[in-house]
Amino acid sequence: MNILGSHILSVQQFDRANIESLFQVADTMRPYARREKMTTVLQGAILGSLFFEPSTRTRVSFGCAFNLLGGEVRETVGIESSSLTKGESLYDTARVLSGYSDLIVMRHPQPGSVAEFASASRVPVVNGGDGANEHPSQALLDLFTMQQEMAGKSRGIDNLRIAMVGDLKHGRTVHSLSQLLCLYRNISFVFVSPKALAMPEEIVDRLMAAGHTVVETEDLAVGIANVDIIYQTRIQEERFASKEEANQYRGRFRINQYAYSQFCQPSTVIMHPLPRDSRADANELDNDLNDNPNLAIFRQTDNGVLVRMAIFASILGVGKEVDRYARPISWKNVRKG
Ligand code: NCD
Repeated sequence: MNILGSHILSVQQFDRANIESLFQVADTMRPYARREKMTTVLQGAILGSLFFEPSTRTRVSFGCAFNLLGGEVRETVGIESSSLTKGESLYDTARVLSGYSDLIVMRHPQPGSVAEFASASRVPVVNGGDGANEHPSQALLDLFTMQQEMAGKSRGIDNLRIAMVGDLKHGRTVHSLSQLLCLYRNISFVFVSPKALAMPEEIVDRLMAAGHTVVETEDLAVGIANVDIIYQTRIQEERFASKEEANQYRGRFRINQYAYSQFCQPSTVIMHPLPRDSRADANELDNDLNDNPNLAIFRQTDNGVLVRMAIFASILGVGKEVDRYARPISWKNVRKG
Protein backbone atom coordinates (compact mmCIF):
# COMPACT_ATOMS: atom_id res chain seq x y z
CA MET A 1 0.00 0.00 0.00
CA ASN A 2 1.15 3.49 -0.85
CA ILE A 3 0.37 5.79 2.10
CA LEU A 4 -0.43 8.79 -0.15
CA GLY A 5 -3.59 10.39 1.27
CA SER A 6 -4.03 7.65 3.89
CA HIS A 7 -4.81 7.74 7.58
CA ILE A 8 -2.15 6.02 9.69
CA LEU A 9 -4.13 4.30 12.43
CA SER A 10 -2.47 0.92 12.99
CA VAL A 11 0.74 -0.91 12.18
CA GLN A 12 -1.44 -3.55 10.55
CA GLN A 13 -1.72 -1.26 7.52
CA PHE A 14 1.96 -1.81 6.67
CA ASP A 15 3.91 -4.41 4.73
CA ARG A 16 7.67 -4.75 4.30
CA ALA A 17 7.70 -2.99 0.94
CA ASN A 18 5.99 0.19 2.14
CA ILE A 19 8.07 0.27 5.32
CA GLU A 20 11.17 0.10 3.17
CA SER A 21 10.08 2.97 0.95
CA LEU A 22 9.07 5.03 4.00
CA PHE A 23 12.50 4.44 5.56
CA GLN A 24 14.22 5.41 2.31
CA VAL A 25 12.40 8.74 2.48
CA ALA A 26 13.34 9.05 6.19
CA ASP A 27 17.03 8.60 5.29
CA THR A 28 16.87 11.57 2.92
CA MET A 29 15.60 13.79 5.76
CA ARG A 30 18.86 13.72 7.75
CA PRO A 31 20.43 16.98 6.43
CA TYR A 32 17.16 18.84 7.15
CA ALA A 33 16.81 17.41 10.66
CA ARG A 34 20.44 18.39 11.31
CA ARG A 35 19.74 21.91 9.96
CA GLU A 36 22.43 21.60 7.30
CA LYS A 37 19.82 22.94 4.86
CA MET A 38 16.10 23.69 4.86
CA THR A 39 13.20 22.87 2.59
CA THR A 40 9.93 24.62 1.84
CA VAL A 41 8.25 21.62 0.24
CA LEU A 42 5.19 21.85 2.57
CA GLN A 43 4.95 25.64 2.53
CA GLY A 44 1.31 26.62 2.89
CA ALA A 45 0.27 23.34 4.53
CA ILE A 46 -1.12 23.26 8.07
CA LEU A 47 -0.82 20.40 10.56
CA GLY A 48 -3.58 20.16 13.17
CA SER A 49 -1.96 18.72 16.28
CA LEU A 50 -4.54 17.48 18.80
CA PHE A 51 -3.14 15.96 21.98
CA PHE A 52 -5.85 15.02 24.46
CA GLU A 53 -3.35 13.11 26.66
CA PRO A 54 0.06 14.10 28.07
CA SER A 55 2.89 14.10 25.54
CA THR A 56 6.27 15.72 25.14
CA ARG A 57 8.34 14.03 22.44
CA THR A 58 5.55 12.71 20.24
CA ARG A 59 3.79 16.08 20.08
CA VAL A 60 6.93 18.18 19.70
CA SER A 61 8.65 15.87 17.22
CA PHE A 62 5.54 15.68 15.02
CA GLY A 63 5.37 19.48 15.13
CA CYS A 64 9.08 19.91 14.39
CA ALA A 65 8.87 17.38 11.55
CA PHE A 66 6.09 19.38 9.88
CA ASN A 67 7.92 22.68 10.45
CA LEU A 68 11.16 21.24 9.04
CA LEU A 69 9.29 20.45 5.83
CA GLY A 70 8.17 24.08 5.65
CA GLY A 71 4.63 23.64 7.01
CA GLU A 72 2.81 25.35 9.89
CA VAL A 73 1.43 23.71 13.06
CA ARG A 74 -1.73 24.57 15.02
CA GLU A 75 -2.04 22.84 18.38
CA THR A 76 -4.69 21.92 20.91
CA VAL A 77 -3.39 20.38 24.10
CA GLY A 78 -5.57 18.74 26.76
CA ILE A 79 -9.25 17.77 26.65
CA GLU A 80 -10.01 20.44 29.25
CA SER A 81 -8.98 23.25 26.87
CA SER A 82 -10.96 21.89 23.90
CA SER A 83 -14.67 21.78 23.08
CA LEU A 84 -14.77 18.08 23.93
CA THR A 85 -15.36 19.23 27.54
CA LYS A 86 -18.48 21.05 26.31
CA GLY A 87 -19.88 17.74 25.08
CA GLU A 88 -18.80 18.01 21.45
CA SER A 89 -18.58 14.66 19.65
CA LEU A 90 -15.44 13.39 17.97
CA TYR A 91 -17.43 13.51 14.72
CA ASP A 92 -18.08 17.26 15.00
CA THR A 93 -14.52 18.02 16.13
CA ALA A 94 -13.19 16.07 13.15
CA ARG A 95 -15.49 17.85 10.65
CA VAL A 96 -14.43 21.22 12.02
CA LEU A 97 -10.69 20.70 12.49
CA SER A 98 -10.26 18.98 9.13
CA GLY A 99 -11.55 22.19 7.55
CA TYR A 100 -8.64 24.07 9.11
CA SER A 101 -5.81 21.61 8.44
CA ASP A 102 -4.24 19.55 5.65
CA LEU A 103 -3.26 16.73 7.93
CA ILE A 104 -4.06 15.92 11.58
CA VAL A 105 -2.13 14.12 14.32
CA MET A 106 -4.23 13.07 17.27
CA ARG A 107 -3.66 11.43 20.66
CA HIS A 108 -6.63 10.47 22.83
CA PRO A 109 -7.10 8.25 25.92
CA GLN A 110 -9.84 6.07 24.39
CA PRO A 111 -8.85 3.01 22.32
CA GLY A 112 -10.43 3.33 18.85
CA SER A 113 -11.08 7.08 19.26
CA VAL A 114 -8.57 8.15 16.61
CA ALA A 115 -10.12 5.76 14.06
CA GLU A 116 -13.58 7.14 14.92
CA PHE A 117 -12.27 10.69 14.47
CA ALA A 118 -10.55 9.74 11.19
CA SER A 119 -13.75 8.34 9.72
CA ALA A 120 -15.29 11.83 9.96
CA SER A 121 -12.17 13.76 8.93
CA ARG A 122 -11.74 15.33 5.50
CA VAL A 123 -7.96 15.09 5.73
CA PRO A 124 -5.56 12.26 6.63
CA VAL A 125 -5.22 11.50 10.36
CA VAL A 126 -2.15 10.00 12.05
CA ASN A 127 -2.70 8.13 15.31
CA GLY A 128 -0.39 9.62 17.96
CA GLY A 129 -1.59 7.02 20.49
CA ASP A 130 -5.14 5.89 21.27
CA GLY A 131 -5.23 4.78 24.89
CA ALA A 132 -3.61 1.39 25.44
CA ASN A 133 -4.31 0.34 21.86
CA GLU A 134 -1.69 1.50 19.32
CA HIS A 135 1.11 3.97 18.65
CA PRO A 136 2.10 3.27 15.04
CA SER A 137 4.56 6.13 14.45
CA GLN A 138 6.50 5.12 17.58
CA ALA A 139 6.71 1.53 16.32
CA LEU A 140 7.99 2.77 12.96
CA LEU A 141 10.70 4.92 14.54
CA ASP A 142 11.61 2.04 16.85
CA LEU A 143 11.94 -0.32 13.90
CA PHE A 144 13.97 2.28 11.97
CA THR A 145 16.30 2.57 14.99
CA MET A 146 16.56 -1.21 15.35
CA GLN A 147 17.53 -1.54 11.68
CA GLN A 148 20.20 1.11 12.17
CA GLU A 149 21.53 -0.48 15.38
CA MET A 150 21.58 -3.98 13.87
CA ALA A 151 23.17 -2.75 10.62
CA GLY A 152 26.11 -1.60 12.76
CA LYS A 153 26.52 -5.26 13.71
CA SER A 154 26.02 -6.46 10.08
CA ARG A 155 22.61 -7.87 10.98
CA GLY A 156 19.05 -7.23 9.88
CA ILE A 157 15.70 -7.62 11.63
CA ASP A 158 15.04 -11.21 10.51
CA ASN A 159 16.07 -13.67 13.29
CA LEU A 160 16.08 -10.84 15.88
CA ARG A 161 15.86 -11.73 19.57
CA ILE A 162 14.08 -9.04 21.58
CA ALA A 163 13.05 -8.77 25.24
CA MET A 164 10.13 -6.44 25.96
CA VAL A 165 10.04 -5.54 29.64
CA GLY A 166 7.52 -3.89 31.97
CA ASP A 167 3.85 -3.02 31.50
CA LEU A 168 3.06 -5.05 28.41
CA LYS A 169 -0.66 -5.04 29.13
CA HIS A 170 -1.20 -1.28 28.86
CA GLY A 171 1.83 -0.28 26.76
CA ARG A 172 0.62 0.77 23.30
CA THR A 173 4.22 1.05 22.09
CA VAL A 174 4.89 -2.66 22.64
CA HIS A 175 1.49 -3.59 21.19
CA SER A 176 2.35 -1.78 17.96
CA LEU A 177 6.02 -2.73 17.83
CA SER A 178 5.54 -6.47 18.38
CA GLN A 179 2.90 -6.59 15.64
CA LEU A 180 5.09 -4.60 13.25
CA LEU A 181 7.95 -7.04 13.85
CA CYS A 182 5.54 -9.78 12.79
CA LEU A 183 6.33 -8.79 9.19
CA TYR A 184 9.87 -10.10 9.58
CA ARG A 185 11.11 -13.70 9.82
CA ASN A 186 11.76 -15.81 12.86
CA ILE A 187 11.64 -13.23 15.66
CA SER A 188 12.22 -14.48 19.24
CA PHE A 189 10.12 -12.45 21.65
CA VAL A 190 10.81 -12.64 25.39
CA PHE A 191 8.07 -10.87 27.35
CA VAL A 192 9.20 -9.93 30.87
CA SER A 193 6.34 -8.63 33.01
CA PRO A 194 4.37 -9.32 36.15
CA LYS A 195 1.66 -11.87 35.26
CA ALA A 196 -1.03 -9.23 35.78
CA LEU A 197 0.64 -6.96 33.19
CA ALA A 198 1.29 -9.61 30.52
CA MET A 199 1.08 -8.96 26.79
CA PRO A 200 -2.59 -9.34 25.69
CA GLU A 201 -3.32 -12.91 24.66
CA GLU A 202 -4.64 -11.97 21.22
CA ILE A 203 -1.30 -10.32 20.37
CA VAL A 204 0.70 -13.33 21.64
CA ASP A 205 -1.55 -15.60 19.55
CA ARG A 206 -1.02 -13.43 16.47
CA LEU A 207 2.78 -13.50 16.86
CA MET A 208 2.81 -17.27 17.30
CA ALA A 209 0.43 -17.82 14.38
CA ALA A 210 2.91 -15.86 12.23
CA GLY A 211 5.62 -18.39 13.17
CA HIS A 212 7.55 -16.40 15.81
CA THR A 213 8.73 -17.70 19.18
CA VAL A 214 7.24 -16.23 22.36
CA VAL A 215 8.57 -16.84 25.88
CA GLU A 216 6.87 -15.16 28.85
CA THR A 217 8.69 -14.81 32.16
CA GLU A 218 8.73 -12.85 35.41
CA ASP A 219 12.49 -13.32 35.75
CA LEU A 220 14.35 -10.28 34.41
CA ALA A 221 17.82 -11.86 34.59
CA VAL A 222 16.71 -14.82 32.48
CA GLY A 223 14.67 -12.66 30.12
CA ILE A 224 17.48 -10.29 29.13
CA ALA A 225 20.29 -12.87 28.99
CA ASN A 226 20.20 -13.91 25.34
CA VAL A 227 18.72 -11.08 23.32
CA ASP A 228 19.93 -8.55 20.76
CA ILE A 229 17.63 -5.80 22.03
CA ILE A 230 16.01 -4.95 25.36
CA TYR A 231 12.93 -2.74 24.99
CA GLN A 232 12.17 -1.41 28.47
CA THR A 233 8.85 0.31 29.23
CA ARG A 234 7.25 2.42 31.96
CA ILE A 235 4.42 1.20 34.20
CA GLN A 236 1.49 3.05 32.56
CA GLU A 237 0.11 4.38 35.86
CA GLU A 238 -2.52 6.49 34.10
CA ARG A 239 -4.24 3.28 32.91
CA PHE A 240 -4.69 1.81 36.43
CA ALA A 241 -7.79 2.27 38.61
CA SER A 242 -5.61 3.80 41.35
CA LYS A 243 -2.05 4.97 41.91
CA GLU A 244 -1.71 2.38 44.69
CA GLU A 245 -2.43 -0.41 42.22
CA ALA A 246 0.24 0.88 39.82
CA ASN A 247 2.70 1.29 42.70
CA GLN A 248 2.71 -2.48 43.27
CA TYR A 249 4.60 -2.84 40.00
CA ARG A 250 6.76 0.29 39.84
CA GLY A 251 10.45 -0.51 40.20
CA ARG A 252 9.92 -4.26 39.81
CA PHE A 253 12.17 -4.62 36.75
CA ARG A 254 15.11 -2.23 36.90
CA ILE A 255 17.93 -2.18 34.42
CA ASN A 256 21.16 -0.51 35.43
CA GLN A 257 24.81 -0.89 34.46
CA TYR A 258 25.31 -3.62 37.06
CA ALA A 259 22.38 -5.72 35.77
CA TYR A 260 23.51 -5.06 32.21
CA SER A 261 27.08 -6.21 32.73
CA GLN A 262 25.99 -9.11 34.95
CA PHE A 263 23.20 -10.59 32.81
CA CYS A 264 23.38 -9.30 29.22
CA GLN A 265 25.57 -10.07 26.25
CA PRO A 266 27.95 -7.12 25.81
CA SER A 267 26.44 -6.00 22.49
CA THR A 268 22.80 -5.91 23.66
CA VAL A 269 21.08 -2.70 22.55
CA ILE A 270 18.90 -0.94 25.14
CA MET A 271 15.77 0.89 23.97
CA HIS A 272 12.83 2.63 25.66
CA PRO A 273 10.07 4.71 24.04
CA LEU A 274 10.52 7.28 26.87
CA PRO A 275 9.66 8.91 29.14
CA ARG A 276 11.65 6.70 31.51
CA ASP A 277 10.33 7.01 35.04
CA SER A 278 13.45 8.21 36.88
CA ARG A 279 11.81 8.61 40.31
CA ALA A 280 13.64 6.58 42.96
CA ASP A 281 10.79 4.10 43.47
CA ALA A 282 10.64 3.28 39.74
CA ASN A 283 13.96 4.02 38.02
CA GLU A 284 13.39 1.35 35.37
CA LEU A 285 16.39 2.49 33.28
CA ASP A 286 19.12 3.92 35.48
CA ASN A 287 21.09 7.06 34.62
CA ASP A 288 24.29 5.08 35.14
CA LEU A 289 23.62 3.62 31.67
CA ASN A 290 23.83 7.06 30.04
CA ASP A 291 27.40 6.54 28.84
CA ASN A 292 26.79 2.97 27.68
CA PRO A 293 27.27 3.09 23.88
CA ASN A 294 24.49 0.52 23.44
CA LEU A 295 21.91 2.81 25.05
CA ALA A 296 19.93 3.84 21.97
CA ILE A 297 17.17 5.93 23.61
CA PHE A 298 18.30 9.29 22.28
CA ARG A 299 19.02 7.86 18.84
CA GLN A 300 15.36 6.74 18.94
CA THR A 301 14.15 10.25 19.73
CA ASP A 302 16.32 11.80 17.01
CA ASN A 303 15.10 9.21 14.52
CA GLY A 304 11.53 10.09 15.48
CA VAL A 305 11.87 13.37 13.59
CA LEU A 306 13.17 11.63 10.43
CA VAL A 307 10.44 9.01 10.43
CA ARG A 308 7.68 11.55 11.14
CA MET A 309 8.98 13.81 8.36
CA ALA A 310 8.83 10.77 6.05
CA ILE A 311 5.27 9.96 7.15
CA PHE A 312 4.09 13.52 6.40
CA ALA A 313 5.96 13.79 3.11
CA SER A 314 4.65 10.42 1.95
CA ILE A 315 1.02 11.10 2.95
CA LEU A 316 1.12 14.45 1.15
CA GLY A 317 2.89 13.02 -1.91
CA VAL A 318 6.19 14.91 -1.71
CA GLY A 319 8.53 12.12 -0.57
CA LYS A 320 10.71 12.66 -3.63
CA GLU A 321 10.27 16.45 -3.94
CA VAL A 322 11.97 17.54 -0.72
CA ASP A 323 15.39 18.31 -2.26
CA ARG A 324 13.83 20.26 -5.14
CA TYR A 325 12.62 22.82 -2.57
CA ALA A 326 15.90 22.90 -0.60
CA ARG A 327 17.63 26.11 0.44
CA PRO A 328 20.75 26.86 2.52
CA ILE A 329 20.10 27.94 6.11
CA SER A 330 20.84 31.56 6.86
CA TRP A 331 22.05 31.23 10.44
CA LYS A 332 25.21 29.73 11.93
CA ASN A 333 24.55 26.11 12.84
CA VAL A 334 26.03 25.77 16.33
CA ARG A 335 24.50 22.35 16.98
CA LYS A 336 26.78 19.81 18.67
CA GLY A 337 25.93 16.36 17.31
C1 NCD B 1 4.87 6.39 25.12
C2 NCD B 1 3.38 6.58 24.98
O1 NCD B 1 2.86 7.68 25.11
O2 NCD B 1 2.74 5.55 24.72
N1 NCD B 1 5.58 7.58 24.98
C3 NCD B 1 5.87 8.03 23.72
O3 NCD B 1 5.01 8.35 22.94
N2 NCD B 1 7.17 8.04 23.37
C4 NCD B 1 5.29 5.56 26.26
C5 NCD B 1 4.90 5.97 27.65
O4 NCD B 1 4.24 6.98 27.88
O5 NCD B 1 5.30 5.25 28.57
